[in-house]
Amino acid sequence: MRLLKFYQTAVGKKVVVAVTGVVLFLFLIAHMAGNFKVFAGPGVIDEYALHLRTMLEPIFGWAGVLWIMRAVLLACVLAHIITVALLIRQNRKARPHKYHRHHLQASTLAARLMQVSGAVILVFIVLHILQFTTGTVQPAPVLFHEEGGHMMAEVYRNLHAAFSLWWVAALYIFVMACICVHLYHGGWSFLQTLGADNQDRNRCFRIWAIVLALGLFIGFSSVPFCFWTGMLPPPAADEVAHTPATSTEGH
Ligand code: HEM
Repeated sequence: MRLLKFYQTAVGKKVVVAVTGVVLFLFLIAHMAGNFKVFAGPGVIDEYALHLRTMLEPIFGWAGVLWIMRAVLLACVLAHIITVALLIRQNRKARPHKYHRHHLQASTLAARLMQVSGAVILVFIVLHILQFTTGTVQPAPVLFHEEGGHMMAEVYRNLHAAFSLWWVAALYIFVMACICVHLYHGGWSFLQTLGADNQDRNRCFRIWAIVLALGLFIGFSSVPFCFWTGMLPPPAADEVAHTPATSTEGH
């Protein structure tokens, strides 16, 4: 009851947006670190994908831990979006008419940028899962093989096939730029939510927000870029017995 009352306040909502934003940010760091395994050579990232599904298998079953992570992520994405929408509505109602013109323009621009980049990221996440996880959307063939009775994506091979197409690589790099913008503004608002917004520290925080956002942009974009330019080699032809994607995740 108390928590609900806190959530109904603007501060309560900002805290929920900030906390879910941090969880999603941590996911991005972990995902980027996982993606870097492509640089260790074909096969290493596939082993990592298998490890994600066999982790604690005796307790949670095949991909059990992965499903728990998926549930947490989905809950965070939904809570993040719904709370932002409620916050916008609450702010509109509470905004005084004689708001300073310049302030209004600056904050509106930042808010628009967050909304547009957020929408791009949302559409991307749906298409991205349909591409690499389920193999439903295939700009390039997505292949699966059987692993102990379950269908497993051939991650390296699929990444290579997708990012050999210039427009897929370019689209991914564009979305990573949107994520970079979203994170920069999000990180900044987060610090203000924490009450850390202070003239002396602002410069330092801005630099940190830029470094983190740019770091993620360069880190994520390096994968499509290196496949596209041929810096990452094609997989060996006979590496795994594969089948086109007809059956997917969870089987
Ligand atoms: C160039 C950047 C990226 C690459 C190369 C990439 C690659 C991949 C691949 C290969 C998978 C499937 C892994 C598997 O089946 O084990 C995957 C899954 C996923 N990715 Fe990405 N990803 C990128 C960026 C992102 C970003 C920016 C987000 C979030 C905004 C994201 C969210 C996800 C999610 C939610 C899944 C599904 C995980 C699951 O349920 O199994 N990815 N990604």
